[in-house]
Amino acid sequence: MGLGVLTAKGCLACHSVDGKPKVGPTLKALYGKEQQVLVAGNPKTVTVDDAYIRRAITRPMDQVVRGYPPAMPQTPLTEQELNEVVRYIKSL
Ligand code: HEC
Repeated sequence: MGLGVLTAKGCLACHSVDGKPKVGPTLKALYGKEQQVLVAGNPKTVTVDDAYIRRAITRPMDQVVRGYPPAMPQTPLTEQELNEVVRYIKSL
């Protein structure tokens, strides 16, 4: 399950699922949001979809959420774990 993956991989040290900001942005109500990011230092607005979430996890430095440090470690997840995490984030 998605929540189990987030717990096992240490994601919840930096991300809440209840709306509270931690080191990183909350994952609550993230899906479909217009997110302000920096791409190579340039501000951009993107809509959060499956591809955005997958990229945020697999290549965290590509798009850095504005107002947050580029502090997310790259954590290897299997394809199945990624799918479960994306499905779980969608449900929040
Ligand atoms: C050491 C703290 C830390 C850990 C551990 C961490 N993250 Fe992050 N994460 C961040 C920070 C800081 C950002 C915002 C800056 C950025 O975009 O890189 C972020 C951004 C994100 C985003 C984009 C959020 C948005 O609002 O657009 C997602 C999705 C995400 N992380 C998922 C995960 C998942 C899944 C894991 C576990 C595999 C994880 N993170 C582990 C710190 C962390």
